[in-house]
Amino acid sequence: MKTPSTNFREVESDIRTNFKDAMAYGDYLHLDKILSAQQMRTEEHDEMLFVVIHQASELWLKLAVHEVSAAIRLIDEGQFRRAFKVLARVKEILNQMKQSWSILATMTPVDYLKFRDSLGNASGFQSVGYRSLEFLLGNKNAQAIRVHKDRPSCTARLEALLAKPSLYDAAIAQLVRAGFAIDPELASRDLREPYQHNDSVEAAWTKVYRFSDRFYDLYELAETLVDLEDAFQNWRFRHMYTVQRIIGFRRGTGGSSGVGFLKQALDTSFYPELLALRTNI
Ligand code: HEM
Repeated sequence: MKTPSTNFREVESDIRTNFKDAMAYGDYLHLDKILSAQQMRTEEHDEMLFVVIHQASELWLKLAVHEVSAAIRLIDEGQFRRAFKVLARVKEILNQMKQSWSILATMTPVDYLKFRDSLGNASGFQSVGYRSLEFLLGNKNAQAIRVHKDRPSCTARLEALLAKPSLYDAAIAQLVRAGFAIDPELASRDLREPYQHNDSVEAAWTKVYRFSDRFYDLYELAETLVDLEDAFQNWRFRHMYTVQRIIGFRRGTGGSSGVGFLKQALDTSFYPELLALRTNI
């Protein structure tokens, strides 16, 4: 029997070098496409950082959308354990995205102003990935789709998600399935409209928390949602604070008031009853 080699040269000799008819690493990952997509608009050194952080964030958002969609299906099927595993990954994706603010914050206002004008009106506000994730998590906002009116494929993707039940709708459906008395109007509400606090939902979640041993799956589901919102809000906060640090109180390239607009978003809660019940429990 051949013993595993500890000799570096011998190991090297086993490495495959002939990829004429075989798929190599770069082929599988389409690195030619990904690594040629950093098309800078200026010669400024920091524009590369700016482009890479945005592109990497978009990839993470794509993965998060894929995972939350799967979690909604699993919750609908009552497969809680599997849904928790998927959502634990989403939380880590959001944490990973949050971490990128520390890299971006190494760019000073002077560095950014050297190429900011070249962005025109491009802004993360037009990120389909971000908006898709918000809709899937439960923060519906039809107004936010208007910026895509000249991009029919983006509008179609977001319209489809706007009309679908969110992760929170899936969680509330499980409250109904467990026998809680939930306002029947909630089931027939317009899913395109922003979710509003509902007393019957708060009463149900309060009972789940008070009798957590009896309703352990629902209790864990509720805390998982709070974890996700917590991670999302952390990303939002770091975005707002990094923006303040880099552009101060200038208006955004997307046309908003800038930091003021980003601060407002921090007041939006995805799961209002889960926040409210903490005061009265
Ligand atoms: C120097 C760096 C950055 C600056 C100065 C900045 C600034 C802003 C501003 C001012 C807005 C408000 C909309 C507008 O008027 O443009 C905004 C929105 C947004 N930005 Fe950034 N941003 C930066 C980096 C990033 C990065 C790296 C991402 C990652 C994807 C990102 C994603 C977003 C998203 C998703 C929104 C929409 C937020 C919402 O609708 O609540 N931004 N950004």
